[in-house]
Amino acid sequence: MRSKLFEGILCASLTLLALPALAQLNAGPTRPQVPLPEGPIRNVLFKNCVSCHGIDDYAFYALARERWESILGELHSGMKMKKMSDQDETLLLDYLAENFGVEATPFPRRYVPPEIDTYYDDLKGHEVLDTICSECHALDRVYETHGSLARWRVLLLEMRARGAELPDDSDMERMAEWLSRVQSANLFE
Ligand code: HEC
Ligand code: HEC
Repeated sequence: MRSKLFEGILCASLTLLALPALAQLNAGPTRPQVPLPEGPIRNVLFKNCVSCHGIDDYAFYALARERWESILGELHSGMKMKKMSDQDETLLLDYLAENFGVEATPFPRRYVPPEIDTYYDDLKGHEVLDTICSECHALDRVYETHGSLARWRVLLLEMRARGAELPDDSDMERMAEWLSRVQSANLFE
């Protein structure tokens, strides 16, 4: 009788412990996700850049145009690269300098989320949405998105890399935690 009860408790606590680990696993590591751009640049990337690796890693950099030009040579030295037309190269460097230029914040190679012991309430969360998030896009973008804490963390790091004013890691973590509650992933659907 006693051991049955103990088993029951053990089982329940294991289930509780397992949940965050599972969510973490599904979300994968904290990596940038760069959307494929529209327009002529998309074709330039298809023709010259995506046969060996994707475009997400570009977000690890924040460089001036000239630096982009030289680093692409350095990164690919000794590799068989297709010779790009001048027009394609101009489009590529424009795209890189515009999206991953000196104004951008490079996505961190290894991001360690800070521990927090205070949390945002709805008032504070909405204040951040209204003051910081509404600067570049409608808040519909936020309300259409649901995700785990790990997913929101990646999203906010991306927003920061794009220029959102989220300079403090702990504040960003509080915002991610709040979003993961009000815009949670529907794990059980
Ligand atoms: C022939 C295969 C190949 C092609 C085509 C290629 N790359 Fe690469 N690229 C690589 C390899 C391999 C590395 C890793 C080099 C290293 O780590 O030293 C790399 C690294 C990079 C990095 C650095 C990634 C990081 O994590 O630091 C960037 C940025 C990059 N490439 C951009 C481009 C762009 C832009 C193009 C199109 C002009 C392109 N690559 C085309 C093979 C390729
Ligand atoms: C400096 C400009 C900027 C600010 C400020 C900004 N964002 Fe964004 N956000 C973007 C851009 C650009 C995209 C569109 C990326 C795409 O899909 O091409 C985007 C897209 C999104 C998406 C949709 C992502 C997806 O995968 O569909 C969400 C969610 C989002 N932002 C949340 C936020 C939140 C929350 C904040 C405030 C903390 C914020 N953004 C502040 C630039 C910004």
